Amino acid sequence: MSNGGDLFAKAYKYEDAKKLQAMGLYPYFRAITASTGNNVVTAGKRQVMIGSNNYLGLTHDLRVMEAARDAITKYGTGCTGSRFLNGNLDLHEELERRLARFVGKEAALCFSTGFFVNQGTLGALIGRSDVIYSDRENHASIVEGTQVALGDTIRFRHNDMEDLERVLKNSREKYEGAMIVADGVFSMSGDILNLPPLVELAKKYGCKVYVDDAHALGVLGPKGEGTAQHFSLVNDVDLVMGTFSKSFASIGGFIAGKADVVHYIKHKARPFMFSAAMSPASAATALKCLDIMETETQHLESLRKNAKYMSDNLKSMGFNTLNSRTPVIPLLIGDDVAAFAMTQKLCEEGVFVTPVVRPAVPEGCALLRTSYMASHTKEDLDYALKHLEKIGKEFGVLGNAETTEKLNKLALQNFGVHA
Ligand SMILES: Cc1ncc(COP(=O)(O)O)c(C=O)c1O
Repeated sequence: MSNGGDLFAKAYKYEDAKKLQAMGLYPYFRAITASTGNNVVTAGKRQVMIGSNNYLGLTHDLRVMEAARDAITKYGTGCTGSRFLNGNLDLHEELERRLARFVGKEAALCFSTGFFVNQGTLGALIGRSDVIYSDRENHASIVEGTQVALGDTIRFRHNDMEDLERVLKNSREKYEGAMIVADGVFSMSGDILNLPPLVELAKKYGCKVYVDDAHALGVLGPKGEGTAQHFSLVNDVDLVMGTFSKSFASIGGFIAGKADVVHYIKHKARPFMFSAAMSPASAATALKCLDIMETETQHLESLRKNAKYMSDNLKSMGFNTLNSRTPVIPLLIGDDVAAFAMTQKLCEEGVFVTPVVRPAVPEGCALLRTSYMASHTKEDLDYALKHLEKIGKEFGVLGNAETTEKLNKLALQNFGVHA
């Protein structure tokens, strides 16, 4: 018998997180012991939450909470099986019909997470002789989907349509089917996808278009219908992916497109067929949020007002926000350890933010990812601004011309953003 290497050796040697823990700078898995959405309590301290994806602030809407409770009363706490066998509820099907209409597609299919949607859909549709063209900043679940898919993946520079054309020109004719996949709003930089030239390239080179609207639903479009609506290009996007873990205040996700394509995914996507259905409370929550999005535009208006207020103030303080025009507003910090230490300090001062380091961003481009909600009060926002400015100055990110210059260069080189 061979006595080769120990499979667990990599785990024993893995020190990155332990080093941060020893320095008291580990910023992950902070246990939240109470939440109102806008404010949370961790380690016994109240913090203004500016690190969440609860864009419309609906996690604590009384009508949404009641819908979740009613669903538990009617159906119980779980579906205890796949949709395909014993876990299919009328609630799932109603949600699918309503979502398809909302995003302007013939049909939709709900999965138990958004991650599964990307993994399952790309895995089901991309055959050996097909190709995926994927933006370099796409979410990890798309990357996972490209790894599960049998065909090749070719990446293009983030939101760079010249680069997309370059790779299409060089490679498209080697493959049968092709799909261009990109986030509608990029989760870390808050960038909006440059969809109009992308759909033109898709037509020119015979590709399908798949937009991951996890951060665009509830955010872009007149009622939050997403990126395609924002650009009035609904008929040019073949597949719209969404998740319920952000504006829909729940958990789960969906894919929407032509009825035949959705029917195919329903019978071929393994994460859909072989994983249990989203719980009754999760489905009812998403449905109630959809009711609210369709009928009450005041939440979207507040979200936009709050995001603009924060963007204007953060920029005038001197933060480099990568020119985000969405409620995801990154603050470019550069050094990883500085980003961790700032996160820790802000936490102690009552502001919950999340640091973003490689591989989610290029090496040396650490961010503090801040994100805003419709339900934030002016008092919440002003509190966060005051402490962000204080900590920014303490760490030399603000008020230091040399650092500003360095960060502007980083933004240009790594994100293509001019100050
Ligand atoms: C762009 C993007 N796509 C997909 C997902 C996965 O969604 P879910 O949280 O529902 O698994 C996320 C969530 O982080 C995301 O940001």
